Amino acid sequence: MKKIILIILILLLILFAGAQFFQPEKNEGERNIETDLFQTAIVNDPIKALFTASCYDCHSNSTNYPWYSKVSPVSWYLFDHVKVGKEALNFSEWGTYTDSEKISQLVDIGETVSDGEMPLKSFLIIHKEAKLSEEEIQKIVNWTEQEGMRIMEGNQ
Ligand code: HEC
Repeated sequence: MKKIILIILILLLILFAGAQFFQPEKNEGERNIETDLFQTAIVNDPIKALFTASCYDCHSNSTNYPWYSKVSPVSWYLFDHVKVGKEALNFSEWGTYTDSEKISQLVDIGETVSDGEMPLKSFLIIHKEAKLSEEEIQKIVNWTEQEGMRIMEGNQ
């Protein structure tokens, strides 16, 4: 019996080691490119810091990878979140959104943050600093309203 357990453990170890050769493509584009939110909207430093710490890892072309996120299968789990997250909202491409897309994203940002849906819970387990306080949530909501107004006023 002991022997079987040992063989299974060794097989698992080999499988784990082998899995390291299969890594998803990394999301490591440049930060702060021309079309980035920070270049194309009015964002003050405190809000920039909140978005950078709590959202940019999944909603931009540039993820800050901690070491363990480079280990399979964690890397695949993360890859999937970034891929789906970027499809929903990509701050690196903010400048390419139309005004109505921006406004609808701003509304969604306010809602998902207020409801505690974003940042994703699984992210907060390892990124404690990304958790938003009530005050920070309010700051983000206020910002989405200001930015939305600014866009609408620009169109009058
Ligand atoms: C760990 C990755 C991750 C982090 C961090 C994260 N998101 Fe998301 N986000 C996702 C994924 C995946 C989706 C798409 C699936 C979903 O709606 O759950 C998404 C969807 C969204 C959407 C679209 C929701 C909709 O209804 O379509 C908005 C808006 C959003 N996120 C805003 C944010 C904001 C703002 C932050 C930071 C405060 C943030 N997210 C942090 C992964 C993340």
